[in-house]
Amino acid sequence: MVINIGILVSGRGSNMEAILKAIRDGKIKNCEVKVVISSKKDARALEVAKTYGVKAIAIEEVGFKDRVEYDNEIMKCLIEHGVTPDNGLVLLAGYMKILSPEFVNKFKWRIMNIHPSLLPSFPGLHAQKQALEYGVKVTGCTVHFVDESLDMGPIILQAPVPVEEDDTVESLSNRILEWEHKIYPEAVRLFIEGKLKIEGRRVRILK
Ligand code: GRF
Repeated sequence: MVINIGILVSGRGSNMEAILKAIRDGKIKNCEVKVVISSKKDARALEVAKTYGVKAIAIEEVGFKDRVEYDNEIMKCLIEHGVTPDNGLVLLAGYMKILSPEFVNKFKWRIMNIHPSLLPSFPGLHAQKQALEYGVKVTGCTVHFVDESLDMGPIILQAPVPVEEDDTVESLSNRILEWEHKIYPEAVRLFIEGKLKIEGRRVRILK
């Protein structure tokens, strides 16, 4: 079965680009990115998506009554583009919004996110700064399924990144980002090949 992908973004879009590149290069097969939706109309990600020939749309929250109404619009847009709860995969890639429980439940275990720390350490914003200030010697990044919690859904893949003595938030973020670009496409590939099995909090990777 071909999986239809929708990617939700808000900014730079480098993780989105890593996934589009992996698909274009044939590293991930049996899927198609049907739409990129940005919560910000000036997001660089929208331009990048277009260079890959992917439809890119901005839907900003202004004018919507609340998060549920906004999320309904996002879901409507995904479904209209063929990204459905049956055959779809929704990828959050620097998407600066928290999904409503309605959204999460409609696309249950079909939504992934990438986070720049080794969860459950340092959820939420500025994870790299949190790690540096806490003084950990190793941080990294995590791809996880999205549930109703904030950054706490079942973990799919992680990559450790050592903290260097002279690291700044920027240098650490850059090294983590290189790993994000490796593990996010890999997690997408595993999902599409049907190799991820969720058992409670554990995500088993089938051979
Ligand atoms: C990444 O660090 C990602 O882990 C976090 O937001 C950032 C998005 O960067 N969720 P980009 O838009 O993918 O370049």
